Amino acid sequence: METKKITAQTVRADFNDLVAVVHYTKAAHALGLWASEHTLIQRFFPDLQSPLLEAGCGAGRVTLGLWQIGYRHITAFDFAEELLDQARSLAIERAATAITFVHADATQLTESPAFPNQRFGGALFMFNGLMQIPGRENRRSALRELHRVCSPAAPFLFTTHDRDATPTERALWRLEKLRWARGEQNPRLLEFGDRYFQDEAGRTFMHLPDREEVLADLAATGWQPTFDMMRTELSREKPAVHEFSDNCRFWAAERI
Ligand SMILES: C[S@@+](CC[C@H](N)C(=O)[O-])C[C@H]1O[C@@H](n2cnc3c(N)ncnc32)[C@H](O)[C@@H]1O
Repeated sequence: METKKITAQTVRADFNDLVAVVHYTKAAHALGLWASEHTLIQRFFPDLQSPLLEAGCGAGRVTLGLWQIGYRHITAFDFAEELLDQARSLAIERAATAITFVHADATQLTESPAFPNQRFGGALFMFNGLMQIPGRENRRSALRELHRVCSPAAPFLFTTHDRDATPTERALWRLEKLRWARGEQNPRLLEFGDRYFQDEAGRTFMHLPDREEVLADLAATGWQPTFDMMRTELSREKPAVHEFSDNCRFWAAERI
């Protein structure tokens, strides 16, 4: 029997699963923005009045963090309904009812009237959400959609893992390359760099790129990279942030 590859439906179902919903809702209520996110958001989005788009908002950890530090024109979307419901409730609890929440898939924003061309002055796709889209062409579609809905020169902030971040990771990925060469990789994976695993956040699909891949994807979709740095080089995070998330690379780009 042929093994079914991971699809957007797999990822959406995993994020709608109770284990994931509890995990991300707790973080939205108790953790809020990481120190690194706070610093870079203020650096790259200096205008509090600019209409911002947050992709993959989940249960609203970053969305409500943006609201708390003064952004007032926020549209946030996610394709996992259960998480989005949690984000909506949290916004009501925190009297942040001016935030617009939309149920949408990042690769198909044209399906919603909330996303006309050049509507937003900036976009964010935090905590590796972009890399949870299976298939490089699909990730490029999401980048193209964000480009379409942002105005010229709009900033875009996102994070990814980096396969080359440490000697240990480089060694592990060399072994994984051998597995792919022998055809012994997890048959559900689509591309080299993909992982599908289970932990306290539930089942997680994640594509781990190298730096060249991200630079090529940005160039192919109309984004000019302006900054990238590993989180560990940016800020000291509190222990709760390390428990919630591993190290990542922050990327900023400007809409061409
Ligand atoms: C790691 S979670 C981060 C959630 C939240 N931003 C946070 O930092 O807590 C990634 C989010 O991206 C969303 N996501 C993944 N692929 C998506 C897609 N194609 N369209 C919309 N949302 C997507 C998931 O549903 C999930 O909520």
